[in-house]
Amino acid sequence: MKRVCIIGASGKLGQYMVQHALDRGYEVVGVCREKSVAKLDTFRDRITIIPGATNDREVIERAVEGCDGVLTVLVPWGVNDYSSGTAQAVLDLAPADARLIFSCGWHISRDGQDVYSFTFRALVAVFGKLMRLFRLVDIDDQVEACRRIFASDRKWTVVRGSDLEEGESQGLPVWSRHVGDAVLESNLTRRIDFALFMVTALEDDALIQEAPAIVGRRSPSAQTAEAAS
Ligand SMILES: NC(=O)c1ccc[n+]([C@@H]2O[C@H](COP(=O)([O-])OP(=O)(O)OC[C@H]3O[C@@H](n4cnc5c(N)ncnc54)[C@H](OP(=O)(O)O)[C@@H]3O)[C@@H](O)[C@H]2O)c1
Repeated sequence: MKRVCIIGASGKLGQYMVQHALDRGYEVVGVCREKSVAKLDTFRDRITIIPGATNDREVIERAVEGCDGVLTVLVPWGVNDYSSGTAQAVLDLAPADARLIFSCGWHISRDGQDVYSFTFRALVAVFGKLMRLFRLVDIDDQVEACRRIFASDRKWTVVRGSDLEEGESQGLPVWSRHVGDAVLESNLTRRIDFALFMVTALEDDALIQEAPAIVGRRSPSAQTAEAAS
């Protein structure tokens, strides 16, 4: 892994991923909206920034050229297929052997075997309807984006984040295949560690074509699982 592209580099998750990637000595190309370029000022001299919308295929084609890995922040902004357009561009245009890592939340299910609490389902349903009503966010489009990724034969990993908090790193989060598994019960991960998991996945072949649901390594449920093992 020498050169990686971070799509959505200026957001909170994106900036943590830039730092982790630089820490590993990777050459970094970041894509972010023109209006957000200044958010990457601290990295300005160490990364290449390509301004543009993440679902703009020309932007993505330029950004992923020569990359061994692509880290994509999937967020379903608006109601014009932003998330699925972004995922499709990466799937179509990234170099054939590149590792493709995508972020999303626990609400995405690969095989329908995830078990969600009533509160979680209610929150997703209410939030999803309200956001769609105001044309701000279309959760169904993130579902569609992931459906396309799961159907692809590329070397993808879809990292499903729990609720997030800020704070110092607790180390690499632990993961499980299904929400509802006991180890995930605490439903909390530090954002810096979500980013760490994304970047570490680039070189972890065991995660190819997996959709790990993650939780903080020092969260109570992860510690209970560790003590029991
Ligand atoms: N927040 C949570 O609690 C949570 C929980 C689980 C999983 N996740 C997953 O984590 C990832 C990002 O999480 P995050 O909360 O840390 O967010 P974030 O990193 O701040 O990412 C938000 C991204 O969306 C972009 N963005 C914001 N407004 C936009 C708009 N109107 N049009 C186009 N792009 C826009 C941001 O770019 P700019 O810099 O240009 O604004 C940034 O790249 C997502 O994949 C999400 O599904 C989040």
